[in-house]
Amino acid sequence: MNVLLIGSGGREHALALALSKSPRLGKLFAAPGNPGIGTLAECVSVDVTDHDAVIAFCRLMGIGFVVVGPEAPLVAGLVDDLDAAGIAAFGPGKLAAQLEGSKGFTKDLARDFDIPTAAYGRFADKSAALAYLDAHPAPIVVKADGLAAGKGVIVAMSDAEAREAVETIFSGAFGEAGAEIVIEEFMEGEEASFFALCDGNKALAFASAQDHKRVGEGDTGPNTGGMGAYSPAPVMSDEMSARVMAEIIEPTLRGMIARGAPYKGVLFAGLMLTKDGPKLIEFNARFGDPETQVMLPRLEEDLLPLLMQCAQGNLRSQKVALSPRTALTVVYAAPGYPENPQKGSIIRGVEKAAALEGVMVFHAGTRQQGADLVANGGRVLNVTGLGASVKEARDRAYAGIDVIDWPEGFYRRDIGWRALG
Ligand code: AMP
Ligand code: GLY
Repeated sequence: MNVLLIGSGGREHALALALSKSPRLGKLFAAPGNPGIGTLAECVSVDVTDHDAVIAFCRLMGIGFVVVGPEAPLVAGLVDDLDAAGIAAFGPGKLAAQLEGSKGFTKDLARDFDIPTAAYGRFADKSAALAYLDAHPAPIVVKADGLAAGKGVIVAMSDAEAREAVETIFSGAFGEAGAEIVIEEFMEGEEASFFALCDGNKALAFASAQDHKRVGEGDTGPNTGGMGAYSPAPVMSDEMSARVMAEIIEPTLRGMIARGAPYKGVLFAGLMLTKDGPKLIEFNARFGDPETQVMLPRLEEDLLPLLMQCAQGNLRSQKVALSPRTALTVVYAAPGYPENPQKGSIIRGVEKAAALEGVMVFHAGTRQQGADLVANGGRVLNVTGLGASVKEARDRAYAGIDVIDWPEGFYRRDIGWRALG
């Protein structure tokens, strides 16, 4: 079976590595891919926003299955168009991808299907939003409704900050994504990421992870896409995972059937583990980045048939085979990330790091420039360590970081602090 992987980040490099191990794989293509993915797949420059071009490419190359990494093509309906062309694809269709694409859609679903989440209001009008703030003092959370690359959420610790957030979003700072806003109750607890594979009707727990969203050590500074992660999340015990499946994932699948948009693909629940139990912060309609770079190295079975079962509607119920070992990844980022990442600096020593025992290096924002590997994005490399404990995984990841020669790059030194206690 020839497979086309869509995307170019560290998540897709980890997916490419797992897919490339499948005995069922014929040839792997990636659009657009990156230099790391290029060691495992043929990278092609098909324009993924041109769905007809993607379909034509699949026909030309005899591609039987498409794996979509990022959210934008899902929200744009790529999977619907591939389905209509008779090409199986992993990921939700456009309507189901609203679970990520519209926070208001998800909040209404949670209300209608008793899914535990923060109390909220939904507003298309500034004066109504400000009136809601009058009745609900800080701390409170203000969110742009649509996709805002992780930047559309303001956790306001004061009333003034909350009012300013409403003004900023309605002034058009997030474009279309801010045409509506959601204001919600501030929840307290530990955060965790939980992933379930879904085939429209059934869900199968995949794995858990914890991310580090802030750019700076000690969880300080602006939010990012994620500066490091580990899997499993020690707080996600078997009992907690079972609760999340029963209280959040399964009601969501039932709700999506009732909404006429059965959910297939991977459902990524951002959770707050509050004193009243797990509550949903948000859903993503895709694998996490960098969570995938710590979940897939623990997978002890073939990924390809699992993803295909999601698309075909025949997902098995037998548990996913995951190593009990811990994987921890450290994001090596370009100077200026997240505000203004500087491109072009030269990175050396990646192969040396990847040759260390228990170390994998996933490329994210890299580019090959002649003989040199150069930074070409914000999050540039993910150095993953796999070990018998969080500490061993962490030590291996940082040993990998140490042999990479990239004076301009930076990373957090405290990835895993929560799990290490
Ligand atoms: P989101 O993009 O919705 O995942 O939000 C980004 C971050 O904002 C989350 O990872 C949380 O740290 C924080 N956050 C979002 N919603 C809430 C909430 N209702 N209460 C507390 N923190 C929140
Ligand atoms: N690491 C968070 C995300 O993928 O959205």
